[in-house]
Amino acid sequence: MKISKRLKAISDLIKENSKVIDVGADHAFLDIYLNLYKNCHCLAIDKSKHSTISACNNAKKYKANIKAITNDGLTNIKLTDEIIVISGMGTKTIKKILNFNIQNDLILSSHTNIEELKEFLKEKNYNIEKELIINDKKTYNIIYAKKGGVS
Ligand SMILES: C[S@@+](CC[C@H](N)C(=O)[O-])C[C@H]1O[C@@H](n2cnc3c(N)ncnc32)[C@H](O)[C@@H]1O
Repeated sequence: MKISKRLKAISDLIKENSKVIDVGADHAFLDIYLNLYKNCHCLAIDKSKHSTISACNNAKKYKANIKAITNDGLTNIKLTDEIIVISGMGTKTIKKILNFNIQNDLILSSHTNIEELKEFLKEKNYNIEKELIINDKKTYNIIYAKKGGVS
């Protein structure tokens, strides 16, 4: 299965067998790839029912074992140690989705206001562990952030 250079760069940040929640998964290509090639347990979330149907159809087509649900961000989702991926949205939406006492590792790729997103992460006591710039027709910024210790 072939995925975009941007989604491949995100998948490269995720270890085998990880638990992943992909918010705004749309077609769920990232989740399908992670399940098939890295044995990850993926929950694909999208607020659009149409996207959830597309995710389920794609999972069936590629014989991937992922879960896809329609939901607004992480509302009512019980989190443990999953990596949260939010990519392909603007900073305003990402901040809204993460506007609670989030503790999980984050992989974020915003197409607007990267500096504002970094400031938000700092306020939430997150450290940026890795930052990638990917050229795939457009330029994309991908951040891996982890919650810092007690300050
Ligand atoms: C451009 S697509 C990105 C798809 C994929 N993550 C990627 O990076 O290629 C953005 C998706 O985010 C979804 N979305 C936007 N706000 C959301 C929210 N609050 N909760 C869940 N999904 C959301 C949209 O419905 C859309 O399918």
